[in-house]
Amino acid sequence: MEIYVTDLHGVEHVLEAVEGWRVMEIIREHGLPIKAECGGACACATCHVYVDPDWLDALPRMSDEEEEMLDGAFDQEDTSRLSCQLIMTARLNGLRLTLARAEADA
Ligand code: FES
Repeated sequence: MEIYVTDLHGVEHVLEAVEGWRVMEIIREHGLPIKAECGGACACATCHVYVDPDWLDALPRMSDEEEEMLDGAFDQEDTSRLSCQLIMTARLNGLRLTLARAEADA
């Protein structure tokens, strides 16, 4: 399985993905810059990503906690999700997303 992740410089990376892992963990494991400060507890929003609109419907619904945390995230968009709340499944094979900046000067 693979996911396609575009970094802050607009470069797309093809990452091998493991079922059951959080998308945040997959991004981190491959060495792409993602802070994920809270380690996946839905408490920091530094694992913020923009999901390709074609993939939004394939994702699990947002929990209230994720929605609240995203409300405070920098540059939130309609396609925003927290990548620690997305668990890799076969259905998400080929998922495309873009890393979000954590702050204005990042
Ligand atoms: S890693 Fe902190 S909210 Fe996802």
